[in-house]
Amino acid sequence: MLTVSICVGQSCHEKGSAEIVSVFEQEIRQHGLEGNVALTGMHCSDPCFLSTTVRVGERVFRGLSPQDARDFFLNEILPRIRPEDSGKRPD
Ligand code: FES
Repeated sequence: MLTVSICVGQSCHEKGSAEIVSVFEQEIRQHGLEGNVALTGMHCSDPCFLSTTVRVGERVFRGLSPQDARDFFLNEILPRIRPEDSGKRPD
């Protein structure tokens, strides 16, 4: 089980963390990954000015926007679960 944590602090919330969660949930369903990814919230980890902070496993990414969330999922999350599907976009 891969844990993906999205910052739900005020600054990240204002920059679209809820939309990012929605995109991740949609991608998890589309790829049939229910049971393989745990989405959780996390508190502010600074610096807040870079858009939303996301932690994938032990790696922290800063500056994620809702517009980039799908590509982020395909490039940073999916390969950790299904390396053979890396970069593939379902129809
Ligand atoms: S509110 Fe998300 S990093 Fe500060």
